[in-house]
Amino acid sequence: MIRPRKYHEPLGDTFSSVLHDIADVNKPKAHTIQARPFLKWVGGKRSVLPELLARMPANYERYCEPFLGGGALYFAVQPKYAYLSDINFHLIITFQAVSDDVDRLINNLKIHDRKHDKEYYLKARERLFTEKDPAKIAGLFIYLNKTCFNGLYRVNKSGKFNVPMGDYKNPPIVDEENLRNASQVLQNTEVAQHDFTQLPIQKKHFYYIDPPYHKTYDGYNGGGFGTQEHEKLAEYCKEIDNKGGYFMVSNSDNSFVRKLYKSYDIERVSASRSVSCKGHQRGKENELIIRNYK
Ligand SMILES: C[S@@+](CC[C@H](N)C(=O)[O-])C[C@H]1O[C@@H](n2cnc3c(N)ncnc32)[C@H](O)[C@@H]1O
Repeated sequence: MIRPRKYHEPLGDTFSSVLHDIADVNKPKAHTIQARPFLKWVGGKRSVLPELLARMPANYERYCEPFLGGGALYFAVQPKYAYLSDINFHLIITFQAVSDDVDRLINNLKIHDRKHDKEYYLKARERLFTEKDPAKIAGLFIYLNKTCFNGLYRVNKSGKFNVPMGDYKNPPIVDEENLRNASQVLQNTEVAQHDFTQLPIQKKHFYYIDPPYHKTYDGYNGGGFGTQEHEKLAEYCKEIDNKGGYFMVSNSDNSFVRKLYKSYDIERVSASRSVSCKGHQRGKENELIIRNYK
């Protein structure tokens, strides 16, 4: 069973003082585990990873990511201590199952793999909302993510997952090795489901902030992420800055976003996407990376 996870008290001064060198805590490890995101996610950051990695702060005490999605940057960094969250319930249950119950999850995926066809897919889509066992919810979620059209997670107004089945010959439903590696990476990481505003802000913590982009795709949870949410997010970033934390924000390149973050360092980078934030478009797009540190 999955154990309940709470936000543990952040690593405070007492903890820092017993570490020989806090600066080493979040440096990339010598033997990095070969783990990559186990979900295909709209707005996934794989294509801009080099740009993001080059702009990470040199030292920080904990890695925090309040808009987790597939967690591309998290798996690339593999921080020693991390706190990950997202508003999407099924996504977070899945991360928790990968972390805490990976054997049962893999067995479950093997069953889906054997039974996969159109009729089974449609029934699985319904079961995702009635299933109570977390490892089985996670199995359904990964199965649907690997077999649905474009790996596009989208819910309708009543919160139902309504994406049709994709036309794949051999969808990679069970990637056992990557799931086990991801599970290992997640061992010192807290994972929780909530709105971004509930992620506590602490001095010297690093926040990678990757919201649904302004004026693009925001069908991740039925609620949407509009102008007001972006304004609230800019306030949240201001609070991180005031409290001595570090933030790096990804967002669309437009005048609204540039104005919201005008006090900070704004850089434009070019991203290529296979599943774009803008519906189904493909190709290169400019986007912004905004930081409160150099
Ligand atoms: C652009 S995606 C993140 C992609 C991720 N960085 C990756 O590499 O896959 C944005 C995420 O924000 C989440 N989200 C939307 N509204 C939210 C809110 N109010 N609070 C927290 N998470 C939210 C969505 O569920 C989605 O997973």
